[in-house]
Amino acid sequence: MAGLFITFEGGDGSGKSTQSSILVDRLTNEGRTVIVSREPGGTELGVELREIILHRRGYIAPRAEALIYAADRAHNIATLVRPALERGDIVVQDRYLDSSVAYQGAGRVLNPKEVRDVSLWAVEGLLPDLTILLDLDEAIGRERLDDSRTKYDRLEAEKRDFHARVRDAYLTLAAEEPGRFLVLDGALPVESIAESIRGRVDSLLTGQPS
Ligand code: TMP
Repeated sequence: MAGLFITFEGGDGSGKSTQSSILVDRLTNEGRTVIVSREPGGTELGVELREIILHRRGYIAPRAEALIYAADRAHNIATLVRPALERGDIVVQDRYLDSSVAYQGAGRVLNPKEVRDVSLWAVEGLLPDLTILLDLDEAIGRERLDDSRTKYDRLEAEKRDFHARVRDAYLTLAAEEPGRFLVLDGALPVESIAESIRGRVDSLLTGQPS
């Protein structure tokens, strides 16, 4: 596929939205066509699924939760991301299947390989060209959320050990696929993180090593 698919991953409060909007602004200013998406909620159907999965009151069984995320993902990839990549556009997306492996696999304690396989089936095997993992101690992420939120969604409201497992799972995933992942310390200043991301994305765009 001709385009470039870039995803951001990390715990809640790790700075993904800040960094993705810096990247999107820069690429757009350079005259590139950038499609921005997020999971859950990148499409109209996704917005409805996001509401259910993050804000529905009451219990959702872990496998049901994993399948709702996978359904959102299937629709997002089929209707938004794949067509954009086929046109040669750049897609910058907040969260993708690594989130399911980390949150539903390690967090909810489902089998990580099964969770990944369900997602891979949902997206017909599409993997990002680059996944930027903003790694941050979950307590710092939590403090950042505390500053900006009055209410937590179903996942954010999970306990510390859940978020610690999510962080470890992300680091394991990154170690397994060092070519796809760029792991950055989410505690560094915003500008310095943005600089590292810029270097890696530019090297992908020019085909030169960073
Ligand atoms: P966010 O859009 O604010 O990051 O919120 C999405 C929440 O959903 C976040 O807590 C991570 C969680 N999540 C999963 O548990 N599994 C997934 O596959 C995805 C995409 C997100």
